[in-house]
Amino acid sequence: MNNARVNFLWGVAASAFQIEGAAGRGPSGWDAFAAQPGRIKDGTDASVATGHVDRYREDVALMKELGVGAYRFSISWPRVQPSGTGPANLDFYDRLVDELCAAGIAPAPTLYHWDTPLPLEEAGGWTNRDTAYKLADYASAVAERLADRVPMWITINEPAEVTLLGYGLGQHAPGRNLLFDALPVAHHQLLGHGLAVQALRAAGADNIGLAASHSPVWTAGDTDQDRQSAGLYDTLMNWLFADPILLGRYPEGFEQGADGDLEIISAPLDWYGVNYYSPTLVGAPGAALDSYSGFDLPPDLPFGIHDLQGYPRTGFGWPVVPDGLREILTTLRDRYGDRLPPVHITENGCSYPDEVADTRRIDYLDGHLRALAQAMAEGVDVRGYFVWSILDNFEWIEGYTQRFGLVHVDFDTLRRTPKDSYRWYQEFISRAPDSWPGTHRAGPGPA
Ligand code: BGC
Repeated sequence: MNNARVNFLWGVAASAFQIEGAAGRGPSGWDAFAAQPGRIKDGTDASVATGHVDRYREDVALMKELGVGAYRFSISWPRVQPSGTGPANLDFYDRLVDELCAAGIAPAPTLYHWDTPLPLEEAGGWTNRDTAYKLADYASAVAERLADRVPMWITINEPAEVTLLGYGLGQHAPGRNLLFDALPVAHHQLLGHGLAVQALRAAGADNIGLAASHSPVWTAGDTDQDRQSAGLYDTLMNWLFADPILLGRYPEGFEQGADGDLEIISAPLDWYGVNYYSPTLVGAPGAALDSYSGFDLPPDLPFGIHDLQGYPRTGFGWPVVPDGLREILTTLRDRYGDRLPPVHITENGCSYPDEVADTRRIDYLDGHLRALAQAMAEGVDVRGYFVWSILDNFEWIEGYTQRFGLVHVDFDTLRRTPKDSYRWYQEFISRAPDSWPGTHRAGPGPA
């Protein structure tokens, strides 16, 4: 383990579509999806969200008071290029980046956090190889304007969710039900990632990674079919994206793409981002319960997702399993060895309906930071941790019903109120030594 630790980066995260509001931007595939009756559980949309586009100064001030070193936000592609191509308008992000720099907070933008410009979605979105090249053009425009002040870049967020939920199962935008025919969506996002890395570097950007969701897959039952099904799910969720990026090859049976693509996709990264929420219990087909969303899955899937019992649950119903973070990090380290660059936890957090007295979020964060310290003690090189999320926000198909924020947002008045977890994280950051976890491995944070 690398004991000569560089300063550990404490951050918070959010995404454009979930907080900004639609003023001044073009529509995305998610706007069109949310407008379809029945898609969003509370019937809302993201036209206002938290109104961050007008309130970003107040939000940056909250982050400054919190004491974070970095803010992971996303750039709305349809704000920059409403048609997904052509002249780029980066004025809002220019102001946001200046505001962050003035507050001493490192801006860490994600280029693509699910909000595909609508015209590109209508042209096939990620089923269309051309979207990868469009992403790279957009990446160039962003970096040309911001690379002088942005010290850390994320290409894309959770390509697995976009593929599975968006194009495979139709639960997220664009609501396509392609099942395994959605596999090219995975490849095109990976290619887009690789081309964006090239474009960013060519424009002078450095310190580039992506944010990939990872979930330890636990096998339900002990039949061969259970093990096979769990293995398949594990490949789809965890390795279909990471293997091409970190090893330059697809898992067996999933090979695709044109000659030369994998070379682009596997260009070295400066760091690798892990979004962790909980493990997934998977077995033979039949248990058609998706414990993440409560959705019924199509019965003909070659795996079944089981409800993971015996753990406390978040407001979403997701099991709280801090050790799953340690498990996935050590699994990644074992699978990739030296090919795994330093890691950042680019998302970790929980939804609870509590208003401001959110003791359960404090317990969640405390538990996960202890598990992270444990993973580091076991030799995983982790350099930063970003809480999802700074603000309560538009939680995709859940609308405004799932609150992930350290800061409460009243969605009628847009008033922000720091929760108890905000105060806890503030105190934690102020006490954590630069060498965290250092000698504090037994347990980070206030006693
Ligand atoms: C996404 C976020 C989302 C969070 C909680 C992640 O999958 O990147 O946008 O809000 O999980 O569901």
